[in-house]
Amino acid sequence: MESFTPKDSDSHPPLIHPPYKSSITRSPTEEPIIVPQTITELTGPKFNPSILPEDSYDLTNNSRNSGEPIGERLIVAGRVLDENGVPISGVMVEIWQANSAGKYTDREDQHHAAVDPNFLGAGRTITDEDGWYRFITIRPGAYPWGNHANAWRPHHIHFSILGKNIMTRLVTQMYFEGDPLLPFDPIYNAAPDDARTRLIAAFSLDLTEQGFALGYRWDIVIRGPKATPFED
Ligand SMILES: [Fe+2]
Repeated sequence: MESFTPKDSDSHPPLIHPPYKSSITRSPTEEPIIVPQTITELTGPKFNPSILPEDSYDLTNNSRNSGEPIGERLIVAGRVLDENGVPISGVMVEIWQANSAGKYTDREDQHHAAVDPNFLGAGRTITDEDGWYRFITIRPGAYPWGNHANAWRPHHIHFSILGKNIMTRLVTQMYFEGDPLLPFDPIYNAAPDDARTRLIAAFSLDLTEQGFALGYRWDIVIRGPKATPFED
């Protein structure tokens, strides 16, 4: 049976990070219990790209009602890698994000900003044989939240990486280089000092497409000492 590198605690935020206020009441106070995976989980069915609608990776196109969504188009792409830098194919990558005004398509979102009728803010894809994922989206706006006085979340995209089964789901957030809000964000800063910058996507002229959209590169490492910080 396949053996796994244990979780590298130096790469991930603590379960309770007091500056992130809601983590205090919703995080477990007991040590987590490791649920061993059985042959059923380890040999689970592989995702086949044909299970997704053709444009599920394109958030500028997958929920149009009357036209194009408002905002700056972006291409966000990268590879999903294991601790040895080996690409992982067949992984489902899902993203969700605010629209260009910093508003989620969610009735609970109380930010006084416009919903975009042509932008749901959710997309899904499956990594190819070289571990690549690629999304087309709109640059998400910053938005206020009630964590502390004048608190604003930096521009970010939420990511979920799903392996062969629900027990292999990892969740994190991707940020943008140069965002002036990063030093003030308790969620970003909950990640350990040495690992935090792994959450930041880099502008890439190689991924940028002439006349269409700027490109950002963000690789996701699922474990080991270079692991992407994940939210437990
Ligand atoms: Fe968010």
